[in-house]
Amino acid sequence: MNKNVPKQRDVPLKDIVDQPVTGGATNEAFDPENGRDACVPGLANLITVEDVQGFLIDNDLQECARAFRENDVDGKALRHLDDAMMKDLVPMVSSNSPISTLNFWEIPRSSLNLSRRIGRGQFGEVRLGEVRNRGVTTTVAVKTLRDSASDGNKKDLLGELEILVTVGRHDNIISLVGACTKGGPFMVVVEYAPNGCLKDWLKTNSVEAMRNNSENQNQPLPVMDLEQLIQFGIDVAAGMSHLAAVQCVHRDLAARNILLGKNLVAKVSDFGLSRDIYESEEYVKTTKTKLPLRWMAYESLFYNVYTTQSDVWSFGVLLWEIMSMGHLPYGGMKGKQMMNMIKDGGRLEKPLYCPDELFALMEDCWTILPEDRPTFPQLKTNLDRIIQAHKVTVC
Ligand code: ADE
Repeated sequence: MNKNVPKQRDVPLKDIVDQPVTGGATNEAFDPENGRDACVPGLANLITVEDVQGFLIDNDLQECARAFRENDVDGKALRHLDDAMMKDLVPMVSSNSPISTLNFWEIPRSSLNLSRRIGRGQFGEVRLGEVRNRGVTTTVAVKTLRDSASDGNKKDLLGELEILVTVGRHDNIISLVGACTKGGPFMVVVEYAPNGCLKDWLKTNSVEAMRNNSENQNQPLPVMDLEQLIQFGIDVAAGMSHLAAVQCVHRDLAARNILLGKNLVAKVSDFGLSRDIYESEEYVKTTKTKLPLRWMAYESLFYNVYTTQSDVWSFGVLLWEIMSMGHLPYGGMKGKQMMNMIKDGGRLEKPLYCPDELFALMEDCWTILPEDRPTFPQLKTNLDRIIQAHKVTVC
């Protein structure tokens, strides 16, 4: 996922913090109002400007302390700080300066336990983990780099961390818990989604999978739960609306990058390691890198242009994956064939059991001109309407 250049903010921080936060880093890891796993002992107790000053000086952040004092940054302001605001406050902060909002997300290594591997790529892996803080233990997913990782891979993971800080918390996004950046291997700690990835869920819950499972041989086949499938689309559209609002372009929206939380809530994931997880047949190697061709918008395929509206095209393909229960888009076609078809105006066909109005929405996402495609909030509104109509029909 890429972050567009943030808009310049020239409103004093103290004026911003009293407004409701729609994006940016609200570090619930140390939010005293949130009570959940405070990652940095002591941070939760910072209330006054003097508390913040003490914390910064204790952590060797004198430069920051001076700027924060001049701007009256108290504990509440600190919890709403993102990197753009930080750069306004401390103009001498450069991208390689040790002072950044990342300092506030540091998790002490002693608070983190790692267990089995739950995902892997060429240069990194994801491990299940537990973070302990003030008697509360939280299950997390931990992104790590292999020993063989290059400086470029480290930069990618750091980039992902910075994006996660800026994106902030949303129910339909895999949110940041914290990071271990000092004194050992670099690790990014994110919320754990217990029900795995959407692509796997679709494949194991498809009628074909049920039929092939010997335990189900004599059972009647379950009808496809259309409401659940539409709900996945609504969840992803909500998560993507949030990303769009904070000016982030994902670039790799696909069912493999959607994780399922408790109660099958869908959450947009993979904001950076995805750059090096291109191992499966879903990514096609071009001269420089492997690309998710089948999910890419017209302008990304032919002009290398990526925007929120190219994410909308990918969302259409993701809706198609959902309604076809995890089939490979343009299955049976080679990448080049598929690109020629798109150029000639061809598109994916309607999946067998897909309602017409849902397929019409997908087709809108595949309009040639990006500005003619629906926006994510519009997609969510339409899906809400379709699910309501379906509920009425079923009753
Ligand atoms: N695999 C990769 N990231 C994960 C996460 N956050 N939760 C569960 N499984 C994952």
